[in-house]
Amino acid sequence: MVRTVLCDLLGIDVPIIQAPIGSATGPELVAAVSNAGGLGMLSVTWRTPDEIRELLRETFSLTTRPFGINLVINNDVHDKLEICLEEGVKIVSLFWGEPGRYIETSHRAGAVVIHSAGSVAEASEAVKAGADIIVAQGWEAGGHVRGTVSTMVLVPTIADAIAPTPVIAAGGIADGRGIAAALALGASGAWLGTRFVASEEARAHEIYKQRLGWANAEDTAYSELFDVGWENAPHRALRNSTYKMWESSGSPPSGRRPNEGEAVAQRPDGTPVVRYSSSMPTDSMSGDVEALVMYAGQSVELVRETRPAAAIMEQLKTESEHVFDRADSERQFLRHAISTLAYRAGKVLRDAPAGFASFKIGEASRTPAQILAHMGDLFDWALSMAIGEEKWSDSEPIAWDEGSARFFEALGKVDGHLASSLPLACSYGKIFQGPVADALTHVGQLAMLRRLAGTSVRGENYSRAEIIVGRVGPEQSPGRREFDRENETGPIIFERKETSE
Ligand SMILES: Cc1cc2nc3c(=O)[nH]c(=O)nc-3n(C[C@H](O)[C@H](O)[C@H](O)COP(=O)(O)O)c2cc1C
Repeated sequence: MVRTVLCDLLGIDVPIIQAPIGSATGPELVAAVSNAGGLGMLSVTWRTPDEIRELLRETFSLTTRPFGINLVINNDVHDKLEICLEEGVKIVSLFWGEPGRYIETSHRAGAVVIHSAGSVAEASEAVKAGADIIVAQGWEAGGHVRGTVSTMVLVPTIADAIAPTPVIAAGGIADGRGIAAALALGASGAWLGTRFVASEEARAHEIYKQRLGWANAEDTAYSELFDVGWENAPHRALRNSTYKMWESSGSPPSGRRPNEGEAVAQRPDGTPVVRYSSSMPTDSMSGDVEALVMYAGQSVELVRETRPAAAIMEQLKTESEHVFDRADSERQFLRHAISTLAYRAGKVLRDAPAGFASFKIGEASRTPAQILAHMGDLFDWALSMAIGEEKWSDSEPIAWDEGSARFFEALGKVDGHLASSLPLACSYGKIFQGPVADALTHVGQLAMLRRLAGTSVRGENYSRAEIIVGRVGPEQSPGRREFDRENETGPIIFERKETSE
């Protein structure tokens, strides 16, 4: 799958990040994602200092790959950040607050800082404060939602506003198509939350995971309903029994809602979790966990089952590769055409007899050396088209071997451009109909001249030839000689048959 600037910055193989999903993250999930080449994120906000140390040590024991930690900074969590940095964390993600002081502390410890923003203004402020990477979180996201603009609009707007700072897209992404779309919008990576809540390793309650598998996008609601423990903070979650009860009672404000203060579930130590709490149902809770907030983004529509995180990562990589392959098929086809040209040119240029370079069949016809020089010029022109310059210049014929080397070198430069992630300044069709088609015609002329000069090039069934995309130098496979009677193993194709009439 494609590498982006984010891969180098974070030391990961693929630009896929398991978003921080609160208490549902644990070392198993984080390590599984990081071991699969992405970036796992451990949320430490609602954990005690001892728990944080223990979780970090466990995560370090499960992976040697980079992973990050996340802190929600609406309250002072400086002590928690210090613990993470002391334990050796090198990637810090921040959400919901002023990041300045946390960024300074993290940078002093040599950590990279990612800040999640819901608007251009917030992203720009965070960059000014020193953030290295910005997460653009769209309104369709699950969990607490910072802004009101959709991912599709927010990502390119933030990317333009803070370039060259890298942007990660969040909200609404749950498959490879979404990842490819995020990159197309100008993001350098994708941040997936809801998809990873429905992973085997996530510490979310089974009932919560099951509901994610059943839910559609319309089953999520954006509200401030679950505010006990985190007030005035909009979030997106499933419309569960608590939500429906509140809605059917006329959606009253906080303080007048049905059954406020009622304990609906318990933590393992027996502590109650009340209705409207901002705590999600984790696997260690018991009671009516369905009544607790089940954070989910609209991306839940694309989540149909709980799977191991490594399998999710594999699927995401394969799916996004598939999208890129499709988008790249024209580029691949043009590269194949150039390799075909290199193969055919290789046959007419190799083993040319002495004096062939200046062989002339008439006053008005060009010599092979002149044709070869022109073929080299065609690919200098092709490269100039690829980079948007459109330059032509005529070169003088040179010695046969040098002319041949120059032609292949020019071919290699054009193919190298197509093989890179550099954009093409003109259409693929223009390069084909101009330099490529022209050079193929000239290869035919050279073949005819070799026949006239008494050293024919052997014909073959080119559809079976060993033509390999990217092999564009003089080192081409020898022809298969299928039309050569001496080496014939099967029936001769294209031979005129005698008729009986
Ligand atoms: C269950 C859940 C818990 C979340 N907890 C956090 C958190 O602790 N810190 C944070 O920065 N973002 C948190 N988020 C937001 C995610 O990091 C991310 O922005 C969001 O999930 C992206 O949208 P998606 O769910 O459509 O992938 C949470 C999201 C979910 C679904």
